[in-house]
Amino acid sequence: MTAKEILNILQRDIHSTVFATVDEKGLPQTCVIDVMLTDENGLYFLTAQGKSFYDRLTRQLFVAVSGMKGSGTLSTIAISVRGAVRSIGKERLNEIFEQNPYMADIYPTEKSRSALEVFQLYKGEGEYFDLSQLPPCRQSFSFGGETIHETGYRINTEKCIACQGCQSVCPQHCISKTIPREIDRSHCIHCGNCFRICPVKAVEKLN
Ligand SMILES: Cc1cc2nc3c(=O)[nH]c(=O)nc-3n(C[C@H](O)[C@H](O)[C@H](O)COP(=O)(O)O)c2cc1C
Repeated sequence: MTAKEILNILQRDIHSTVFATVDEKGLPQTCVIDVMLTDENGLYFLTAQGKSFYDRLTRQLFVAVSGMKGSGTLSTIAISVRGAVRSIGKERLNEIFEQNPYMADIYPTEKSRSALEVFQLYKGEGEYFDLSQLPPCRQSFSFGGETIHETGYRINTEKCIACQGCQSVCPQHCISKTIPREIDRSHCIHCGNCFRICPVKAVEKLN
């Protein structure tokens, strides 16, 4: 899936998501924020200038967002994304109200909307994680010129002695039976069992 498609799931199917910011002491705080619009340039949300969330947001202009849909862990997909945010003022405010008609119940008049400010998460990276199938499926994505920082583990084939230790401890059978061994990172759950058991340190942690 493209980043745009994944962000679209966040907006259309999940919509109410959890945003993490940090407070003035540098401590994390979460709150529920709706993803109002998405496009190839990121995602858009709004808040009111009087909120503490607004203060936390404008102090750092960086957020981490998670949302999920499903009923029960093994039927759930989750999307997490984090990145840089900017205010776009009242730009796209009318479009947000058109596409999210419930907003008119919360802010019924033009006057009451004066406190609202629209923000764009314009550069970020994230992950789509599908636990509705086993092994789970995960996909990293980025947008706005951000690079994807690969996480998880990889096998250094120069060092691997093909002993099968890693394969025997992988709970989701993501390591190839064939030599050179490879980890299928799209299904890996990052438990680190392979890393810990490898007798020659051929399994490397990515950061
Ligand atoms: C389903 C749901 C959606 C919400 N969406 C938004 C939103 O899009 N923007 C917003 O500012 N607050 C939204 N809120 C309210 C915030 O979650 C709430 O104001 C926040 O927890 C307050 O944080 P603060 O006191 O730190 O500012 C929503 C609340 C719920 C329950």
